[in-house]
Amino acid sequence: MPKNTLSVTDNRTGNAYELNIENGCIRTADLRQIKTGAEDFGLMGYDPAFLNTANCKSKITFIDGDKGILEYRGYPIEQLAEKSTFLEVAYLIMNGELPAQKQFDDFKYQVTHHTYVHENIKAFMDGFRYDHHPMSILASTVAALSGFYPEASKVKDAAVRRAQIIRMIAKMPTIAAFSYRHSLGMPYIYPDNDLSYAGNFLSMVRRMGETKYQPNPSLERALDVLFILHADHEQNCSTTATRLVGSSVAAGVTALYGPLHGGANEAVLRMLREIGSISKIPDFIKKVKEGGGETKLMGFGHRVYKNYDPRAKVIKRIADQVFDVTGKNPLIDIALELEKIALQDEYFVKRKLYPNVDFYSGIIYEAMGFPVEMFPVLFAIPRTVGWLTQWEEMITDSEQKIARPRQVFLGAKRRDFVSMDKRKAL
Ligand code: CMC
Repeated sequence: MPKNTLSVTDNRTGNAYELNIENGCIRTADLRQIKTGAEDFGLMGYDPAFLNTANCKSKITFIDGDKGILEYRGYPIEQLAEKSTFLEVAYLIMNGELPAQKQFDDFKYQVTHHTYVHENIKAFMDGFRYDHHPMSILASTVAALSGFYPEASKVKDAAVRRAQIIRMIAKMPTIAAFSYRHSLGMPYIYPDNDLSYAGNFLSMVRRMGETKYQPNPSLERALDVLFILHADHEQNCSTTATRLVGSSVAAGVTALYGPLHGGANEAVLRMLREIGSISKIPDFIKKVKEGGGETKLMGFGHRVYKNYDPRAKVIKRIADQVFDVTGKNPLIDIALELEKIALQDEYFVKRKLYPNVDFYSGIIYEAMGFPVEMFPVLFAIPRTVGWLTQWEEMITDSEQKIARPRQVFLGAKRRDFVSMDKRKAL
């Protein structure tokens, strides 16, 4: 009968150890018993950027990066994108099961009736200059929200936790839309409770003189699907930031902002514009291949997916539905050709670099009239569901503690202070 253990021999001492294997992992803390002597701290795992370290057990999202599979609570992303709605998916992610009608109605009511923000939030947002990046307005405003809801600090209280999660999911579109309107110097538009989650967001972004904004159903649905695709992605950078910081959506927004993560959709658009035409693609590919990592093909590659990102496939499909309404974004032709060339090129094939979720999303957002600065904001709205569900999972996991990694210290050994008159400039 095979045993679920790992036998280790420390060749420094000749001592043998047997470590338990559970769920395909050893506990790195079990390595600490492996010592060369009483003074030895014990063996640690060294894993910069968590390439092979699980930080938690989770039941929310499953990814098989080699096969290109993404599932929320067991449901394939393709089925959810085709048959579900963002709010239903949010309920699923948060609660583990799809809602029955009454549960869904209650949830929708709760989210819809927490979309307003305190009037002081508007004044707070007015403090930013008109050209402030909306993602940084979003991060700062989300951080400021905690002052309006001081009870949010009672993180051990399940009812308080849930109330804050509903608040955040409800208010993110409002703050995101306000940040956009602020950058244009346009008046803020209050939420419309009659509209869907995506429809209300479009109303707050677009409404002008009309008393009632009616979103185009195709665009409303496309945005809803994009929200579904971005709702969670297990232990990605911003979710890990949210878990490690241990209650801050502002940390998630800030971590998402970078060009290698949620800011990649913005970077893709800038890259496609820079390339400018199909004829210039070969030169650009050459620059990527010969640049030693200096120039990247933005929207390509993923830490986990070594296959086509399933979300990119869905996005590619909805692009045509959006273009039917908005007219074609000419950048799509450059993107399609870029993908075709890259997928045949040995550099990308060898490194298993495929289009990720950000490769096509920006082209759709642009066709819908959003400026590039809003792209990461559009990512942050749905990802709030993932951040907070993952955060709640962490809070209720008795094995979790304050996150505090170890380091391998390679700096100067202890030495005595030297007065300035005796120091040499280096
Ligand atoms: N273009 C060109 N070369 C690339 C790219 C790219 N986009 N991505 C990775 N590589 C190369 C990289 O230079 C390295 O080559 P070598 O082995 O010769 O040094 C090899 O592929 C492995 O890359 P890595 O940097 O070790 O991979 P990683 O897992 O650390 O990085 C990534 C993953 C997503 C940060 C990276 O692929 C990247 O920077 N992509 C572009 C930015 C992007 O599209 N980000 C969105 C990710 S999906 C949405 C999200 O999570 O927010």
